[in-house]
Amino acid sequence: MSEAEFIHRFIPAPRGSTARTVLLLHGTGGDENDMIPLGRDLDPTAALLSPRGQVLENGMPRFFRRLAEGIFDEEDVIRRAHELADFVGVATARYAFDPKRVIAVGYSNGANIAAAILLLRPEMLAGAVLFRAMVPLAPPVLPNLTHVRVLLSSGKQDPIVPVENAERLAAMLREGGANVTLRFEPAGHALVLGDIEAAKEWLRTL
Ligand code: MLT
Repeated sequence: MSEAEFIHRFIPAPRGSTARTVLLLHGTGGDENDMIPLGRDLDPTAALLSPRGQVLENGMPRFFRRLAEGIFDEEDVIRRAHELADFVGVATARYAFDPKRVIAVGYSNGANIAAAILLLRPEMLAGAVLFRAMVPLAPPVLPNLTHVRVLLSSGKQDPIVPVENAERLAAMLREGGANVTLRFEPAGHALVLGDIEAAKEWLRTL
């Protein structure tokens, strides 16, 4: 398998190819099947592209290596973010969807790789829903994100992502010019109904 190839599922838009494409990015231990029901629930009209992370941590797929909980191997984050962005480019041609209408929806590790793509390859995404995301890397320069809208849905009692870290990510994205909505659920790292409802509403107005 070439570096720009990922095990993945692609589900065409139910009503044809004019709809947007939702790039689904699972959390640690997930795979390409995990996020499909959530993606379809969030946006019933979108095409869905769902790759499986290529890093294995004790047999659990992830999108990049970490040294410990919340401590990331930044070199690997950068390499993997570029590989995933390249894959999205390849998939755009293969499945003939609009490259300007790709919205990432990621949870935890999947949200973190989506944030890394926003910081390193911002042209690949028009928007992102980031559930329980944290700062994935410190980019030397902030990209131009004026074309991007981001919903950050975080947990007030998340033991993995401190509130301050989610706020720092929001500030970084805003500094690049992104239109960022940062919201907190009275919840931990797991998703709750409020996250889903907020994401649906946000996607409806995108
Ligand atoms: C995870 O378990 O996926 C972490 O909380 C986030 C990450 O390592 O990227």
